[in-house]
Amino acid sequence: LSQENQDILSAHEWLAKLYHHLLRYTKDGKEGYGYLQDRGVKDESIDAFQLGFAPNVKDFTAEFLKKKGFHQQLLVKAGLINLREDGQISDRFRGRIIFPIRNHLGKTVAFGGRATIGDSKPKYINSPESELFHKGKLLYNFDLAKKHIRKKNEAILFEGQMDIIAAYQAGIRNVIATLGTALTEYQAKLLKRYVNTVILCYDGDRAGLDAAYKAAVLLRQSGCEVKIAHLENNIDPDSFIQTYGGDAFEKEVIKASDTFMSFYMRFLKKDFNLNHEGDRINYIEKVLKQLAMIDSPIEREYYVKELSKEYGISIDTLTNEISGYREKFG
Ligand code: CTP
Ligand code: MN
Ligand code: MN
Ligand code: MN
Ligand code: MN
Repeated sequence: LSQENQDILSAHEWLAKLYHHLLRYTKDGKEGYGYLQDRGVKDESIDAFQLGFAPNVKDFTAEFLKKKGFHQQLLVKAGLINLREDGQISDRFRGRIIFPIRNHLGKTVAFGGRATIGDSKPKYINSPESELFHKGKLLYNFDLAKKHIRKKNEAILFEGQMDIIAAYQAGIRNVIATLGTALTEYQAKLLKRYVNTVILCYDGDRAGLDAAYKAAVLLRQSGCEVKIAHLENNIDPDSFIQTYGGDAFEKEVIKASDTFMSFYMRFLKKDFNLNHEGDRINYIEKVLKQLAMIDSPIEREYYVKELSKEYGISIDTLTNEISGYREKFG
């Protein structure tokens, strides 16, 4: 590691400690502490994830780190302070809950900052990409989750930090998150090195559904077995756990997660109006094409029977169609 990157790590470490201390023990952090309490985040989780609060003061961070001997230029490069064209500086994170973002070695390489006021935009601000922080290469909480993921041979993948914390509070530890962005091929390959099965548990909205589909395809390409959890439209894992509890989450969401094929059938339905004959036929054709890629005859037959029952098409016709696709695509 270059001297500069070592210094950047050290600045992050100082700041994570400071923000955490402010949140946990001081009046300056009350806004953040109260916000987390309202959302059901316990002290133990605040400590485990070293959550913090950055006060809404223009140059609080800059002043603190300068006193610790860090050069302004380094802090700008680290993305901790912004330098305006007129030479004025301002902290990147102000009036926000701070989530330290650790790499696989447990070193804080970036921060995520959440607004404490419901609808203030943007909801989250993150550190910029750097030599130490590539969003597409890092999985949030991987350092803590790794051993649990290995032990269970199963990982649960969420969208965000609050989902991780809710799961943690429910005693579920084999959890990681992509921090909102699409899963990358790099992350899929990384996961494959640790685990056989990945349970995708993205938000129940359209964005979550689309992201889950893309992630599922990548994970399958990397050789993972994928299951996809099913959450209703306006629910995410955090809100599910807060509303129904951790046991319900394990039983009704994680254990009940769909195979890729059932997920795909549900996913596709959104694009079709199955009350229309034409749409229905297109839908069935698409499902059959996907089915043709499944190598296990047992699995194929299982879904063929389901389709046959649901749409009143004979098993023979469906099977013939699949055989046709299998010949065409090899
Ligand atoms: N995210 C981001 N920038 C945004 C919105 C979201 O970086 N403007 C990232 C955050 O890491 C967030 C994740 O994407 O956790 C998922 O987004 P979303 O589902 O909207 O947020 P939640 O995790 O549900 O956060 P909260 O419960 O605090 O609203
Ligand atoms: Mn979301
Ligand atoms: Mn389902
Ligand atoms: Mn969410
Ligand atoms: Mn949420």
